[in-house]
Amino acid sequence: MATRKRESQDQDARVIVHDEDGQFHLTNGLISYIMKVDGEGKLLNLYFGQAVADRESFAHLIELQHRPTATCRIEGDMTYSLEHLRQEYPEYGTGDYRQPAISVRQENGSTLTDLQYLDYETIEGKPELEGLPATRAGEDEATTLRIILRDGLTGLKVALNYTIFDGSPILARSARIINEGNQHLVVERAMSLSLDMPDSDYDMTIFSGAWARERHPHTHHLHEGIQEISSLRNASGHFLNPTAILSRPGTNETMGETMGIGFVYSGNFDLHAEVDTYRVTRIQTGINDANFAWRLAPGQDFQTPEALVSCTTGGYQAMSQAFHAMVRDHLIRSPWNKRARPVLINNWEATYFDFNEDRLVSIASKAKEAGIELFVLDDGWFGSRNGDTAGLGDWIPNKERLPRGLTGLAKRINDMGMKFGLWFEPETVNKDSDLYRAHPDWAIHTPDRHMNHGRNEFLLDFSNPDVVENIYRQMHHILSTANISYIKWDMNRFVSEGFDTTRGPQSQGEFHHRYILGVYDLLQRLLDAFPDLLIEGCASGGGRFDMGMLYYTPQIWCSDDTDAVERMKIQYGTSFFYPPSAMGAHVSIVPNHQTGRVTPIRTRGNVALFGTFGYELDLGTLSEEDMEEVHRQVAFYKEHRQVLATGSFYRLRAPYGNHRCAWMVVSEDRRTVIIGDYTILLEPNGPYTSLKLQGLDPQADYRITCTGPSTIQGLTLRGDELMRVGMVDSDAASGEMGGVNPLGSTKDFDSRLFVLQAD
Ligand code: GLA
Repeated sequence: MATRKRESQDQDARVIVHDEDGQFHLTNGLISYIMKVDGEGKLLNLYFGQAVADRESFAHLIELQHRPTATCRIEGDMTYSLEHLRQEYPEYGTGDYRQPAISVRQENGSTLTDLQYLDYETIEGKPELEGLPATRAGEDEATTLRIILRDGLTGLKVALNYTIFDGSPILARSARIINEGNQHLVVERAMSLSLDMPDSDYDMTIFSGAWARERHPHTHHLHEGIQEISSLRNASGHFLNPTAILSRPGTNETMGETMGIGFVYSGNFDLHAEVDTYRVTRIQTGINDANFAWRLAPGQDFQTPEALVSCTTGGYQAMSQAFHAMVRDHLIRSPWNKRARPVLINNWEATYFDFNEDRLVSIASKAKEAGIELFVLDDGWFGSRNGDTAGLGDWIPNKERLPRGLTGLAKRINDMGMKFGLWFEPETVNKDSDLYRAHPDWAIHTPDRHMNHGRNEFLLDFSNPDVVENIYRQMHHILSTANISYIKWDMNRFVSEGFDTTRGPQSQGEFHHRYILGVYDLLQRLLDAFPDLLIEGCASGGGRFDMGMLYYTPQIWCSDDTDAVERMKIQYGTSFFYPPSAMGAHVSIVPNHQTGRVTPIRTRGNVALFGTFGYELDLGTLSEEDMEEVHRQVAFYKEHRQVLATGSFYRLRAPYGNHRCAWMVVSEDRRTVIIGDYTILLEPNGPYTSLKLQGLDPQADYRITCTGPSTIQGLTLRGDELMRVGMVDSDAASGEMGGVNPLGSTKDFDSRLFVLQAD
């Protein structure tokens, strides 16, 4: 990585610096991000949006106006007020009454700082953020601009990092807070991104939900004041995902200017938009400052996690495409980022805790017959884990269930020609476990206070390196003794009574972040030791589905809800920021265990195919007809999995409150297209409908095949027609003539796949 000072004013550079004017312009032909140091040494934001040509000075974009009641900086001057200047890293107490990006308590109790521009450097590529997940890029792919601000009185420095990537409308940001003074400082707030946009005419879309209904999109128009999503669970949580969209009113999937914000972190977060008196919108995301206080002795520093922000004009779709590519190409660190994933079978919903080695082998062998490649043993294989009250923390095979241990079971599975995968919940402990009996102090607790449980479990104090080391050793041993190619990393409760028992009273505000650093450390160490290991993240389903975890775990169990209809909603919402290859999706039994709903196996498969595909049932319980369908599904997935893993995903018809849902994937070479077309509740005698496809080669001829009834079966149609006129997918079942209609008899929860192939 080459570090360069004084970047040229070369118009082809990703970072154009006009030194004499203190102006910085990051641009790549897609976006422009322009900042300027003003006469007071403050770093201001002048513009973020679609690319604009560079010019010597954009200083005219700074509007200094006399605003009655404004708190002004320069005596005798009524126009310079930080209350209405758009700043890059605003502070408390400066006359700017909006949320600060940083707040640092000093020895005299004050949190007032006055950060002034000091210096900058440009770095080809992207430096890693030590101990934290973050996007990565080589010298030929990205440039990082680092701007240093300094508070003269305390010696506090802030290094703001901005990375611009070739071919991506996404900018990566983070900040490093450095104590170069000689007093002890406490960082009480340090945002990863703070961005002041000049107006507030935006709709804000957030992704909220609960266990079993994660990440449903909800949109509202911005109003004055703060609109915030956050988590204090020390996990991103089921409730609010650390992502949001700000879009111009009227934006739809294909049209409209959109900003996407994603936080690369898995713990307590805050993401908000604050509209001020002058309708300026301040967007911030970072570690939640509640219960946060990080001590910095002289010489120490603190690195914030990374935040990503995009600007695109092609509607939600363009934003999603950009984030999917960023996740696949720059975020996921594992070699699995673009690899097709194995078809798996997981025993959880088939057996829960009721299994032994023979039962597992029988489930696996039936799966093998259908072409399934990986058998995953879920909860219950270890310690005294016969139910959910005991065993967590003791990662030793349960000899009653598995008399030949994991080695014996893995060998039987491997001998069948299948790979073997295993469930862990590394961060948790039951009181009824040898680990807890030996180290009761390792469970998170506040001395002399009541301990709440979640599903009878307690969390281990991952802020304590001894705890992480213990779990690392246990897991390393298991992964070294049996042939294990995949693990499911679960986490089924959230932090309460957070307390650091090893570092003393001054460190309590560091606890939550240190816990997350411990989780990342364990993941990193395991991947260093077993680089090819495929890890699937999970937290009671999709309770920790975020870009921080995706760095280590290229796929995450999307939700415990495996009902096909609910899954359409969950996967649809998840797809705004995360690609299908990140979404664990399984076919399970009916009546569905979460909703009681009965959907055809065809539809359960057709939904799960647009994720990392697998099964979670005993195939031995299926009818012959359903088993034939399973064989077809597995064969279909294997034929198309590379396209499904690396193709471009487009949402076509939203499942919320609708009768139907549709989405599609287009291969990188645009020759293969796979469309999932779903009926939720049949609309009798419904309208004529068509799907306007996207991302096709307009000049190519696509031959259409459909797995269900369709009036266009076998036709060859051109890409331009399919995108502009649309692909007919009317579903006109009325039933009046006993179900006879041109399309066959469509029913509730029915579905079909279209495959379009160009030569
Ligand atoms: C969580 C996961 C499930 C399963 C169980 C096992 O709920 O989300 O998939 O692994 O734990 O206890």
